[in-house]
Amino acid sequence: MTGFDLRILRDARHVLVFTGAGVSARSGIPTFRDALGGLWSRYDPASLATADAFRQDPALVWGWYQWRRAQVLAARPNPAHLAIAELARRVPRLTLVTQNVDDLHERAGSQEVIHLHGSLHAPRCFACARAYAGSDAEPARVEEGERIEPPRCLRCNGRIRPGVVWFGEALPERPWREALAAARACDLLLVVGTSGLVMPAAQLPQVARQNGAKVVHVNLDAEPADGATTFTLAGDAAEILPRLLLQMADDQAGP
Ligand code: APR
Repeated sequence: MTGFDLRILRDARHVLVFTGAGVSARSGIPTFRDALGGLWSRYDPASLATADAFRQDPALVWGWYQWRRAQVLAARPNPAHLAIAELARRVPRLTLVTQNVDDLHERAGSQEVIHLHGSLHAPRCFACARAYAGSDAEPARVEEGERIEPPRCLRCNGRIRPGVVWFGEALPERPWREALAAARACDLLLVVGTSGLVMPAAQLPQVARQNGAKVVHVNLDAEPADGATTFTLAGDAAEILPRLLLQMADDQAGP
């Protein structure tokens, strides 16, 4: 771990872990912007990840999210998710904020995961916003690009939409408030597997830094780092995070 002093993690009082699609990559869930498999290299976000797209073609949009949900249900948490869940047991306080709409953090054992961009597993009515728990929202086998008519709300007969935050939509208030509070309170921010391009979520590292926290980026790509308050651990989160935990254990085991 070039230039990163493990004591920063070992002595942290409140760690904020902020994750993006890269943390689920090793679980086989495509990221959005990676050159090869990124979803946005194959699909235009405006044609799938907006309320207008859903109004224009609800079956295409609902089918696409059902395809993504089926992928998540077939996936398993990877060592990066497991390491973050384990880290919460090793430091005095850990807050986990994710941009991901999968439930792999929860399935790895993380508690109270703050989802800034919603969840694939929380469909709701597009008209009245009532949560929808109908079994017809559970994806069976879904082909990529398959059109599926969304179910209808039992209360108002509106179309059921994915429970994710679309481009142009506001973040859910409480998760965003909690994430900002954690960014202001933490003394160490671990940014794992995000391109940091989508606002306002991408503000969190700046808020943390302004409040005196140290920031460690874990990403395939090396991020700019001053080696004093910001550090970069370039590589696969599914390898880097478990190694960090092992080093913490060795360190705490002492000579
Ligand atoms: N380990 C660590 N980092 C990785 C790995 C990995 N195995 N694989 C990919 N990455 C990094 C990439 O280098 C990239 O920086 O993860 C990041 C993925 O970036 P994006 O695909 O842009 O995903 P994300 O940052 O989560 O996107 C943010 O954009 O489209 C919206 O709502 C969507 O929540 C999403 C938001």
